[in-house]
Amino acid sequence: MLTQAPKGTRDILPQEVYKWQHVENIIKEICGNFGYSEIRIPVFEHTELFQRGVGDTTDIVQKEMYTFDDKGGRSITLRPEGTAGVVRSYIQNGMASLPQPVKLFYNITAYRYENVQKGRYREFNQFGAEAFGAEGPSIDVEIISIADLLFKKLGISNIRLNINSIGCPVCREKYGIVLKEYLEQKKEQLCSDCRVRLERNPLRVLDCKVKECNLATEGAPSMLDNLCEECGDHFEGLKGMLEKVGIDYAVDSRIVRGLDYYTKTVFEFVSENVGTQGTICGGGRYDGLVEACGGSVTPAVGFALGMERLIMEMDNQNASFPLPKGPELFVASIGSDADLFAQELVYQLRENGISAEKNHMGRSLKAQMKYADKCDAAFTVVIGENEILSNKAVLKNMETGEEKDVSLDSILERFKRAKSACKEGTA
Ligand code: HAM
Repeated sequence: MLTQAPKGTRDILPQEVYKWQHVENIIKEICGNFGYSEIRIPVFEHTELFQRGVGDTTDIVQKEMYTFDDKGGRSITLRPEGTAGVVRSYIQNGMASLPQPVKLFYNITAYRYENVQKGRYREFNQFGAEAFGAEGPSIDVEIISIADLLFKKLGISNIRLNINSIGCPVCREKYGIVLKEYLEQKKEQLCSDCRVRLERNPLRVLDCKVKECNLATEGAPSMLDNLCEECGDHFEGLKGMLEKVGIDYAVDSRIVRGLDYYTKTVFEFVSENVGTQGTICGGGRYDGLVEACGGSVTPAVGFALGMERLIMEMDNQNASFPLPKGPELFVASIGSDADLFAQELVYQLRENGISAEKNHMGRSLKAQMKYADKCDAAFTVVIGENEILSNKAVLKNMETGEEKDVSLDSILERFKRAKSACKEGTA
């Protein structure tokens, strides 16, 4: 137990973290260009927020939340997703008085007590974006295009965008009646969960993963045929704008999503390779959530993208990640005076923004050079008694093998010059 992480959690080790950092850097760049500011929200919230926000009839609230009473007797839940917390923060911090739309993004861990399998964890990471205050489909397209651009910039393909509209509370209620009538006739084929769903929220039956339920709902009436005029126009506007900006999509009238807060637009980006855990990103409009959580009527739309699934997909597609770099200089030393010199030199290099390493393990010179090679040092220099006395040493380029005599007191300047030349080159 002591040496095993709890089921459904995982370490992201340094050998993998550089991939995450690459994706996170691109996310920051894209969100900056789209005008989305980062928000950081608490890991836990009052349980009621998720019951109200995510919805009482969802699997998340019914089966998957990490809920406990704290020492003060409050019911607390580890966030199973980010939207409800962002909505709570929008209300609590008076963001309604800011110029609208308010556009936010986040990178968070989230917690769901799920059946663990590849791509499905109990602690996982989401990148999400939410936009508050705009009601037309143009902001839906903006939200969708953030995810679309991210996939493009990361060099991954074969990700399909599926869209649907689940209407507003008015047309959905009418549709719910039509759907329920249809499902009543198929009741015998439905799983026990779906029989309960049929009474409480028949739309949720369309989302069930059980094969029999899937078959039973194959010929079910479609929400799209039951949209009111406003919701129908919104959906047509969305499709037209997606076409205009060149984002391919397919309409999938079965998408209802696993959370209760959605209205009108819902969408998913699905990998063509990964199968059941293929939904990399999901989102939609949630025009009633701010009000349901105690704020004023505020249209809103957003998505969240599973970082584990995204990186898994990148690995599957052999997408390239910039490899982490080793130190610029490894200062090998023989003897205690040389070790002191190395200590000072690496400090000065690091102070000037140049990565440097030295020996900390009492290794022989041979072992130090082997280690320098393993850490992928770009250059090495060996300092011993003679080098200190003569103020000279040999600087070796580890890639080309080229060696150069240099004076000890020129080493720092040399690397500083190389760094600023490199900066100018990239400026
Ligand atoms: P969601 O569909 O529940 O939506 O989750 C979004 C994404 O998080 C999924 O598509 C998936 O990639 C990832 N994900 C979900 N559960 C797990 C898990 N157990 N293990 C690994 N990855 C997982 C939401 O969370 C909404 N808050 C999205 C949203 C934002 N809608 C509007 N704004």
